[in-house]
Amino acid sequence: PTERRSLIMLFGANGDLAVRKLYPAMFKLFEKGNIRDHFAVIGSSRYKVDDAKYRDMVTKSVEKESSNKKMIANFASHFYFVTHDVTDLSHYSVLKDKADELDKKYKLEGNRVFYISMAPNFFGTVAKNIKNQGLLSNNSGFNRLVIEKPFGRDFESAKELNDELSNAFEENQIFRIDHYLGKEMIQNIEAIRFGNTIFEALWNNRYIDNVQVTLAEKLGVEERAGYYDNSGALRDMVQNHIMQIVSLLAMEQPVAFKDTDIRAEKVKALRSLRVYNVAEASTNFVRGQYGAVGESKAYRNEDGVPKDSNTETFVAGKLLFDNYRWSGTPFYIRTGKELADKFTRVDVVFKKPLVDIFSFPQSGKALLNANVLTIYIEPTQGFSLVVNAKNSEQGFHTEPVNLEFLEDSKRTKETPQPYERLIHDVLKGDGTNFASWPEVASAWKFVDQIRRVWDIQQPMFPNYIPGSMGPVSADELLARDHREWIYKL
Ligand code: BG6
Repeated sequence: PTERRSLIMLFGANGDLAVRKLYPAMFKLFEKGNIRDHFAVIGSSRYKVDDAKYRDMVTKSVEKESSNKKMIANFASHFYFVTHDVTDLSHYSVLKDKADELDKKYKLEGNRVFYISMAPNFFGTVAKNIKNQGLLSNNSGFNRLVIEKPFGRDFESAKELNDELSNAFEENQIFRIDHYLGKEMIQNIEAIRFGNTIFEALWNNRYIDNVQVTLAEKLGVEERAGYYDNSGALRDMVQNHIMQIVSLLAMEQPVAFKDTDIRAEKVKALRSLRVYNVAEASTNFVRGQYGAVGESKAYRNEDGVPKDSNTETFVAGKLLFDNYRWSGTPFYIRTGKELADKFTRVDVVFKKPLVDIFSFPQSGKALLNANVLTIYIEPTQGFSLVVNAKNSEQGFHTEPVNLEFLEDSKRTKETPQPYERLIHDVLKGDGTNFASWPEVASAWKFVDQIRRVWDIQQPMFPNYIPGSMGPVSADELLARDHREWIYKL
């Protein structure tokens, strides 16, 4: 592998994300030689920690990744800590001096990644001060900004944040994290579509009846109620992850497989998504909140959640594209917490043959099934295709059979985790798997309309039980269109 040289300045170094995901991801890159001798991390946060303690913390967070203690110690020796209050300007000069020192020490050639993984209200302040306090390297190296979610809470606040960021960084220097874009099978959507004539030739409203995207979670809000209750499933999962998946499924073929071309197509797709008026928003989207069953707690009884909370923990919706490829073919989406199981999948439901010559209504047998291409994203990775075939009984009857490719569990385990891929992409300067501003803006404009309606209508919560697939209204949404969810309990 090519070794990437860079300083990584991490804001929010003690945070949960850093400890659970970022340090292990960096370690993987180190182990494989994507980063090695010429990298250094300045971790910062408001805590008073010295380098030794910080390295202990980093060591602990990566211990389960390897039994090679020497490798881990070498990795940890690249980490430095600076106590930092992001609103105190004088602290930035300490960061700057440290950055300059490490640049020399590790021969980083002026390459800098600023990674902001902290409370969203500080995103803008930090970006502004990075620039104004002279932290950008001004020799030949690169300056890149990585920004965690959430990117605003509606279009207005997202725009404000984006304006702040763009005062300090160019769009091609800003890497907005959506960790779903780092998932193996989400990246595989492009391979499946554009690498296979048999799919892409049929990938339109003439042959596809509907597309279903399911992001189901088994867990509840856990200890994140403070954040989640102010967000809800629509902002937490739909605006970002689901919109990104949908845009990859709906976009036209990019001119080339590179970030600018792919982004251009995703933006076009998102811009042709029909933004609903009040009536459409209330019929095409449904929400849910889980109640109690058996031992499990209702959402309103979770720690930190107000007893009268109207925050949705489930969303299902129907999306319509007003463009030549998709007009008339709905995309149904759903996501929720405390559902039956953790699974993420896409089901592409093809139209049945216009004429079913095998249909023998008198015998009640042999009605053709729709071909369904399922992309299994998690926990299983793979895909399957349902086709109709003749069964081997006497007489002539068709039955659906499944052509399936599932990644074996060893390969699935070895698949690089999203953060490993994404940090590597940042170091390479490849923005393919990050959300560009126009994409984020379009997604908010769509989602804001739903939110607007929900904010004035009183929901009937709770309306689904843990372990189910959400409220009945989610099934009714499809039943109304004479369809049903492919994945059912
Ligand atoms: C995050 C959401 O973006 O994605 C969480 O904030 C959610 O609420 C998580 O649980 C799901 O991610 P994954 O990778 O576990 O499917």
